[in-house]
Amino acid sequence: MDSIDISLSYMKVPPPKSFIKRLSVHLKSINEYPSGDYSMLKDRIAKYARVKKENIIVGNGSDEIIDIITRAFGQRVLIPVPTFSQFEEAAKRKGSVIKRADSLNGTKYEIKFDKKDLWNSTLVWICNPNNPTGSTVPLEKIESVASGTKAITAIDECLFEYSGDTAVPLLKNYMNMIVTRSMSKAFGIAGIRLGYAIADSTVIARLEEYRQPFNVNIIAEAAGIAAFDYINYYKRAIERVKMTRQIFTEELSKLGLRYIESSAPFVFVSFGSMAKAKNYYSFMSRHGVKVFPAWDKEFSGSKLPFIRFSIGTEEEMSKVVEVLAQAQKSVGLPVYMG
Ligand SMILES: Cc1ncc(COP(=O)(O)O)c(C=O)c1O
Repeated sequence: MDSIDISLSYMKVPPPKSFIKRLSVHLKSINEYPSGDYSMLKDRIAKYARVKKENIIVGNGSDEIIDIITRAFGQRVLIPVPTFSQFEEAAKRKGSVIKRADSLNGTKYEIKFDKKDLWNSTLVWICNPNNPTGSTVPLEKIESVASGTKAITAIDECLFEYSGDTAVPLLKNYMNMIVTRSMSKAFGIAGIRLGYAIADSTVIARLEEYRQPFNVNIIAEAAGIAAFDYINYYKRAIERVKMTRQIFTEELSKLGLRYIESSAPFVFVSFGSMAKAKNYYSFMSRHGVKVFPAWDKEFSGSKLPFIRFSIGTEEEMSKVVEVLAQAQKSVGLPVYMG
């Protein structure tokens, strides 16, 4: 069997041919600098996010946006775990004081911040939907965090297009809130690197002080402007991912495997104990299925008996189910508590 790589999460469909053609026109201008103020790109993003241009900053992937926010505001950073590693990695690069808040109980992801930690922090991260659990965080929870702290409350909405939940309408009430987004997961340009943040214009102005003048290259700038014209193509791809995820989770249930309900293009599956999770992981590796274990450095705070399966094609996922069923015969059923 061909090997299947469902470790990384990105938009798996290739860009439409006409999109590539439009981008290639810009190759003849690579001797020039990008616009620098990214005015047209910000216009397109602002229209999409239903905010004003002065509420937008663009970055070389949302990874860079996370870095800029941390450099600007991250003296003391509060991070609910498990979550995407870059909140913590950016904080380490800055030399921030880092506080983690354990937020996974069994297969229930629920952010619980200590009031004192919220009070002491200068930057609080919430990932919605959360990577790697795929869980959504209720907007009331986000609002209660932002209203209960003076810290910058940064909401990572890199996977927003998969859940449809956004904190953007809250921004007008909370000057201390920032929403970060990516063009990697829903618009299929992960390789070009483009992300952005939305916030009050005074917060954006502060972030702009930390941005390098030409951080988004000329092709990424053009790709960002063009990508929104292909929104229906990408929406259809997202719907296919959701359907495949539904079929995959039904198969997981039939196998008696527990997982966290996901609003993301991946599913976080529990294997009961670390020993069992590692056995399943190595069985799958030996049988050509590459997945992300929760203990990988991609995630922070996770010594957890979970494995993240990103959603591939229907054919790939049905092969993954076959390998899981074989693994079960060889390794045995996970034993779950409670
Ligand atoms: C939650 C989350 N935030 C941010 C990123 C970074 O995205 P980008 O490709 O825009 O840098 C990722 C990528 O995996 C992610 O999962």
